[in-house]
Amino acid sequence: MAVREVIRMGHPHLRVPAAPYPTEHLGSAEFNELVSDMRETLHAYSGIGLAAPQIDVGLRIVVIEIENTSTRYGEIEHTPFEVYINPTITSIADETAGYWEGCLSVPGMMGYVERPQHILVDYLTPGGVDKSIEAHGFLATVFQHEFDHLDGTLYVDRIKDLSLFSFEEEFVQFHADINAQDENSVDKTD
Ligand code: NI
Repeated sequence: MAVREVIRMGHPHLRVPAAPYPTEHLGSAEFNELVSDMRETLHAYSGIGLAAPQIDVGLRIVVIEIENTSTRYGEIEHTPFEVYINPTITSIADETAGYWEGCLSVPGMMGYVERPQHILVDYLTPGGVDKSIEAHGFLATVFQHEFDHLDGTLYVDRIKDLSLFSFEEEFVQFHADINAQDENSVDKTD
């Protein structure tokens, strides 16, 4: 197991759509090592999600783990560690929600992004089982942020109002209260 380096915005590989993971390789030593490294890297960087392209692996694999539900962020659902292979998203409702997002590949920055807030996620587990889950609110944003990485998209591409793109310190100083008044949750995604 090893912590891999997270590549940052400007690295061209973050902009390349990732290839579907070949399902015949699920459970291989190489696959298990990759997932193990992604988990270790997620923890080392204190993230809640990591997409394989962020460690310069161009495959459609994402890991998400949200441990703490009792933070200042409010409505975050506890989400145990899970591996999402070749995931797809379907928007269930037109309703959108805005959250301040961050990204391990864009360190030190946060930006306000509106996304569909009720989605269906279809994916393959490491055991090769097809799964389908619904996600709402902030968790729906986390999925969309992570899966965007698989298409070479960063959250900064989705910021409509660039006055709501901020360094973390200035976010805390100038935007956190405004955010609370709007009853929107705040958190860093990855
Ligand atoms: Ni990210």
